[in-house]
Amino acid sequence: MSEIISIANQKGGVGKTTTAVNLAASLAERGKKVLLMDIDPQSNATTSLGFNRSGYEFNIYHVLLGIKKISEVILKTDIKNLSLVPSNIGLVGIEKEFYNPKNKNRELILRHKVQEIGNSYDYIIIDSPPALGPITINALSASDSVIIPIQCEFFALEGLAQLLNTVSLLKKTINPQLQIKGFLPTMYSGQNNLSKQVLDDLSHHFKDKLFYPKGSKECIVVPRNVKIAESPSFGKPVIKYASTSKGSLSYKALALAVIKG
Ligand SMILES: Nc1ncnc2c1ncn2[C@@H]1O[C@H](COP(=O)(O)OP(=O)(O)O)[C@@H](O)[C@H]1O
Ligand SMILES: [Mg+2]
Repeated sequence: MSEIISIANQKGGVGKTTTAVNLAASLAERGKKVLLMDIDPQSNATTSLGFNRSGYEFNIYHVLLGIKKISEVILKTDIKNLSLVPSNIGLVGIEKEFYNPKNKNRELILRHKVQEIGNSYDYIIIDSPPALGPITINALSASDSVIIPIQCEFFALEGLAQLLNTVSLLKKTINPQLQIKGFLPTMYSGQNNLSKQVLDDLSHHFKDKLFYPKGSKECIVVPRNVKIAESPSFGKPVIKYASTSKGSLSYKALALAVIKG
């Protein structure tokens, strides 16, 4: 079966989309068949891969509503082995469906849709919105594991307890297999004491839940890197836009760590 990994953190701007796009692209570069699912109404992952609204008619919203099969909305990207389920601002409308108490098993809608594509992919990477609402719950319920990007800034760990509680609640109820794959420190700046403090805190509390390159004791950290910030406007993941930049190397290392398990 495909391994399904959600990228989640209810905070906005912490690097979820960047991580989803670049992990997906790096796994594809390693020869894995990858499907990136954008389930954020802001559709930044879709845009980051160079698609605009005129480039596709149907999106994840139509899949969740039951109007389209997931296989009918999948787009081929410019990157070999990488496909995309696009999103669109219209997806905000799905929350009404998800909140409808008559709608039984509404946490499991995405899981059932993903099951339709069976094991056509090695990895399915889900980019979730900045909220712990029904869309993110659907993502976590459909996933084998979750990667949590942590921005190395003040308040980085705030709200983390709530996310971890949600994960453990889902694990006890509808998704017993859900694992925390790991925490990924993002936007790290070596000159910034606050960045170092956040990394120290993470290493202290979650040492065995950070990602390590093979044979290294230094965990994988995504540096604050201008190439990462520039790449979405070129419609490319940073690993294609500036493949040898420090940001790219971190995401390539993350993909290797994910493949090694
Ligand atoms: N390591 C980084 N260095 C510099 N800019 C980054 C980095 N990671 C993300 N960004 C930028 O920060 C903004 C927020 O990142 P994004 O991945 O969209 O976060 P989220 O999906 O959690 O809201 C984007 O403009 C993105 O290009
Ligand atoms: Mg995002």
